[in-house]
Amino acid sequence: MAKMWAGRTAGETDRIADDFNSSIRFDSRMYRQDILGSIAHAAMLARQGIISCSEADALVAGLQGILSDIEDGKLSFDMSCEDIHMFVEQELTARIGDTGKRLHTARSRNDQVALDLRMYLRDENDEIVSLVRELVAALVARAEEHRATIMPGYTHLQRAQPIMFGHHLMAYAMMLLRDLDRLSDCRARTNCSPIGCCALAGTTYDTDRRGEAADLGFSDICRNSLDGVSDRDFCLELMSALSILMMHLSRFSEELILWSSWEFKFVELPDAYTTGSSIMPQKKNPDMAELIRGKTGRVYGDLMALLTTLKGLPLAYNKDMQEDKESVFDAVDTVKMCLSVMAPMIAGMTVCADRMKAAAQGGFINATDVADYLVKRGMPFRSAYKISGELVARCIAEGRVLEELPLSVYRMYSELFDEDLYAEIDLLTCAEKRISEGGTSVASIDAQIAYVKEMLSK
Ligand code: ARG
Repeated sequence: MAKMWAGRTAGETDRIADDFNSSIRFDSRMYRQDILGSIAHAAMLARQGIISCSEADALVAGLQGILSDIEDGKLSFDMSCEDIHMFVEQELTARIGDTGKRLHTARSRNDQVALDLRMYLRDENDEIVSLVRELVAALVARAEEHRATIMPGYTHLQRAQPIMFGHHLMAYAMMLLRDLDRLSDCRARTNCSPIGCCALAGTTYDTDRRGEAADLGFSDICRNSLDGVSDRDFCLELMSALSILMMHLSRFSEELILWSSWEFKFVELPDAYTTGSSIMPQKKNPDMAELIRGKTGRVYGDLMALLTTLKGLPLAYNKDMQEDKESVFDAVDTVKMCLSVMAPMIAGMTVCADRMKAAAQGGFINATDVADYLVKRGMPFRSAYKISGELVARCIAEGRVLEELPLSVYRMYSELFDEDLYAEIDLLTCAEKRISEGGTSVASIDAQIAYVKEMLSK
């Protein structure tokens, strides 16, 4: 088929080269943005007197027809076209005749593709934001439920201090709030219109870039035409934000995987988000969490791929840049899938509070509180520390926990022990004593929940 750009070259390109060159396979998903951009462009050209109003009307009606036919499934993409921009132009010219060829006045595919991609990613950013918000809401709901559920807090994956499960969940809510901030920053910089930068140097026509940008919902225009067609920072920024988001989801997934093992049994993931083994009937595998952890590497890879593609490119457009789309689309699709399974998985998981509490008790994480008890009653810390250590050793030997030793036993070690000891070393009391802002006390968790809810309501 004769190329849209035939003229300079007369010979046909090779069929394999055509396939290699073509991007319609993956850029057809931007058909809507491409058509809306063209409608705004036709309107601007008419407003500026560059084309006539009747020509603009024909262009707009033709473009609207193409859009609705694609959406109704009546029109399918012609895969022999080089890209979505060529497809729409070809279809338009087939429908309305030569007027269709006027649409490409005062623009180039270089600014057009940048425009489409910014519009597309702006929408995807919004969708990802709402999925993250759903996940945060699920975390907050579970945190409210478990604001006083004791679990062991870990450092080095060793039991360290008692914390509330709600506190642990809220840590992830805070990370995700920052992810939302990053996405919103990224959206603001994405929302800048490159259309009218043309091939690289601007145009001799008296265009209205700001009017066209405003029609398309942009808050600003790219102020240097070379930059406008060469910049893919908005893709990199989105993928950086998504990489950090995935890192958070991956750490959480890792914990869910550990917690749902027989060894921990802190949670049971809902059946709908686990799988069985084909040969081991006892198994319930946390596949979704593992896939989220696994797909994190893939999103990092997408970011690295585009960073590497761009690093050596001279200004302005180079065909290498067509590689931007598969990376960024893959990152966006992957993150959306991960978020879509994560939120209901959290909402539906069973929390085994008794197992968490038993693990906290079995870790003797209140041994310091036993020592503190004695210190408060006049014993020097070193001696108190030694007694507490001896009591722990005794518990280990007897298979008991500190809370279960009778007072008569405690009295064998020191006369200072009294009935009020049990209240002091109760794990809930120990956690409740962490009253500093941001600590694990119930009041602090409530404050965190209130803060996150306020952020979500904005
Ligand atoms: N399909 C191309 C891309 O995705 C569109 C821009 C092509 N411009 C050009 N002069 N070849 O980057």
